[in-house]
Amino acid sequence: MRVLSGIQPSGRLHLGNYLGAMKQHIELQEENDCFFFIANYHSLTTVQDAVQLRDYTRDVAFDYMAMGLDPEKVALFRQTDVPEVAELAWVLSTVTGKGLLERATSYKDKVAKNIMPSMGLFNYPILMAADILIFKSDIVPVGKDQIQHVEMAQDMAGYFNNVFKCEVLKRPEWRLNDSPYVPGVDGQKMSKSYDNTIPLFETAKKTKKRIMSMLTDSKTVEEPKDPDSCNVFALYTLVATEEEVAALRERYIAGGMGYGDAKKQLAEAVERILGPAREKREHLESDPALVENVLQAGAEKARNVARGVMEEVRDACGLMTGKDTHR
Ligand code: TYM
Repeated sequence: MRVLSGIQPSGRLHLGNYLGAMKQHIELQEENDCFFFIANYHSLTTVQDAVQLRDYTRDVAFDYMAMGLDPEKVALFRQTDVPEVAELAWVLSTVTGKGLLERATSYKDKVAKNIMPSMGLFNYPILMAADILIFKSDIVPVGKDQIQHVEMAQDMAGYFNNVFKCEVLKRPEWRLNDSPYVPGVDGQKMSKSYDNTIPLFETAKKTKKRIMSMLTDSKTVEEPKDPDSCNVFALYTLVATEEEVAALRERYIAGGMGYGDAKKQLAEAVERILGPAREKREHLESDPALVENVLQAGAEKARNVARGVMEEVRDACGLMTGKDTHR
């Protein structure tokens, strides 16, 4: 299976990114032909500071590899190193109605949060469709918030094939894992733009402090508590073993346990994941050239595929230059 996904370098990556997306990417790398990229063109819609964008871009590469992405098994690259995606995005924009984009919930959410409604932000799903379709991807592993975008890519593949009477673009399928929606410290979706994240890479002390600040109701220690409406418990189910989750559920229901205890348990389970990754990241940071080499090798592999598909696209719509084809 050809697997593709991307992450925006628009701030520090967090547990929502890992549990919802990166974890699946790392699992899928074992058996599949995987392409994972840093969506820096997309980030330009919100990060418009060159130094910051460069830093965030490099950080995503460090984070991915520290969490377990193996560049021997996957192509890891920067979106901008495969400029054919921008070309395909233009072609797709000519077969896509404005009405489709007007239905994008992510655009509406961002505008509601006062992000400038630039044409880039509006056209974001077209660029994302190009990312996916240029690799003829079968599977796109993402969190729940990205499903609508992948469905738009399905639509756009259909529009293109219909208009140009061909089968060049392949319909991709989205894939969720068992944590498609990770709550943040305030119970809303964990998101960079809600300032409610638990970042992947901070000191253990800071991460714990962030977890201890999670919002709960105001039940006393003695009172029984409802695990199913508790944000701390919800996050615990995503990082602890089945036995640990069952044991904590009983303690909630029995009463006699404060939220502080539950948070401490959550912090320990999170540290089991992040502790070893933190060490690995420090090691990677000491050798930035290694990571740059990984990104360049990944780009070369990705670009070879993208070039081939773009040739087919140009051919299908009559954009061939200097080549005489049968069409
Ligand atoms: P981005 O950068 O916002 O997020 C990267 C991935 O993390 C997932 N995610 C979550 N999953 C569960 N719970 C959460 N709280 C949570 N927060 C983030 C996202 O669903 C995503 O899978 N548009 C994409 C980037 C992109 C892309 C693509 C993805 C650009 N081109 C092509 C796939 C294919 C985005 O903004 O993700």
